Amino acid sequence: MVASAGAVILFGIAWLNERLSRKPLEQMQLESREAGRFADQSVSHAEVAAALGMSENLSNGWQRLSHKVLHHQLRVNRIVSFLSSSSRFVRQFLQVALLATGAWLVINQFATIGVMIAATILLGRALAPVESAIAGWKSLVDARSSYGRLKKALPEQDNEASTTQLPAPVGALSVENVMFGLIGQERPIINRVSFTLDPGNAIAIVGPSAAGKSTLARLLVGVWKPSTGVVRLDGADISSWPREQLGPHIGYLPQSIELFAGSVSENIARMGEVDSAAVVEAAQRANAHETILRLEKGYDTSVGNGGAFLSAGQRQRVALARALYGTPRLVILDEPNSNLDHEGEAALLEAIRGLKSQGVTIVVITHRTPILAAMDKVMLLRDGAIEKQGALSEIIGPARAKPAEAAAMASKPEASTASVGV
Ligand SMILES: Nc1ncnc2c1ncn2[C@@H]1O[C@H](COP(=O)(O)OP(=O)(O)O)[C@@H](O)[C@H]1O
Ligand SMILES: [Mg+2]
Repeated sequence: MVASAGAVILFGIAWLNERLSRKPLEQMQLESREAGRFADQSVSHAEVAAALGMSENLSNGWQRLSHKVLHHQLRVNRIVSFLSSSSRFVRQFLQVALLATGAWLVINQFATIGVMIAATILLGRALAPVESAIAGWKSLVDARSSYGRLKKALPEQDNEASTTQLPAPVGALSVENVMFGLIGQERPIINRVSFTLDPGNAIAIVGPSAAGKSTLARLLVGVWKPSTGVVRLDGADISSWPREQLGPHIGYLPQSIELFAGSVSENIARMGEVDSAAVVEAAQRANAHETILRLEKGYDTSVGNGGAFLSAGQRQRVALARALYGTPRLVILDEPNSNLDHEGEAALLEAIRGLKSQGVTIVVITHRTPILAAMDKVMLLRDGAIEKQGALSEIIGPARAKPAEAAAMASKPEASTASVGV
């Protein structure tokens, strides 16, 4: 009875511990991650921080964040250490109470000394786990909240469980009534976009900033899933196609380029095993072979963190080669020429023509006119919806009536700074 009463008290303390420390513990973890991210970001943006004199503001910002962490840590530590010392006290007190009760039983000849010793040892062993659970509660809460976050983040991936391997796509793209919005935002970013593209055809998506072009690109490659509607590649929903299977058939050049720390050839090989022949072939397809050879160590040049050792134009050309590595059937280029010079742009145009002749389906988002020469269709996106779409001549034709657009379209198409209707 003494042991049971003690166990009840200990479990009571454990329960109290859970009630009092969970919230602040979770809060503390959240804040400490936020502070860590803030510090990481500040370091990776050190250049602009130094140039614009932001260092002090950033370090103040980090201090504010870590103050919050410390504040919560203090609270949590107070609660946990108070409760764990209480539970240790209860356990030691229990040992004494048990010995006393045992002694009383032995004196009154209800039990033998052996029973008394055995009971004390047994109790100590039985209740030790409760006490250490309280002391180690922090890691338990940590694990549980991490598990919860993973579970929340991962359901999107569930549909990747499909085990039937689909044949390599040919490249027929069909976008059916796609809408995309973010939770908590009333206005969708992409609003009822539909179009189809046959293998070997190329479409240019043009439109003002924040029209939703890059968002549409992410939906087309399937890294984001439409809220309603579907993007199909060869008839199959692209967002539920297992990425490891689909990746080799997709070429994607994001607007933010995103190179990885490693060599040029590792980047082109998508950070996998470097197959030199395939890497060179991709670079040649992207018309970047000569540019890469001119780098200090050619294909073995290290690109630095995020490609920091390359110029913006070089980064873009390496990223284009990465997009064209392997056997891409659908290539999506988000402003691939934003940092290219005249020569780079000509190389890009040549690369697109080459891809088209191989029957690759191409989507190019662009602000510049020269590249339109290789396109079959043009789509003008505004506020997330298609304002116009059609063959190049249909779209550019009427625009001639508007002086601003006519100037951009009609005046020397090789002027690479000309903008498209915006
Ligand atoms: N990750 C995101 N979180 C919140 N809003 C976003 C995100 N990505 C894009 N947006 C919003 O979607 C709109 C379209 O952005 P984007 O597709 O990048 O435009 P574009 O590429 O045409 O310039 C913008 O208003 C932008 O604020
Ligand atoms: Mg964009």
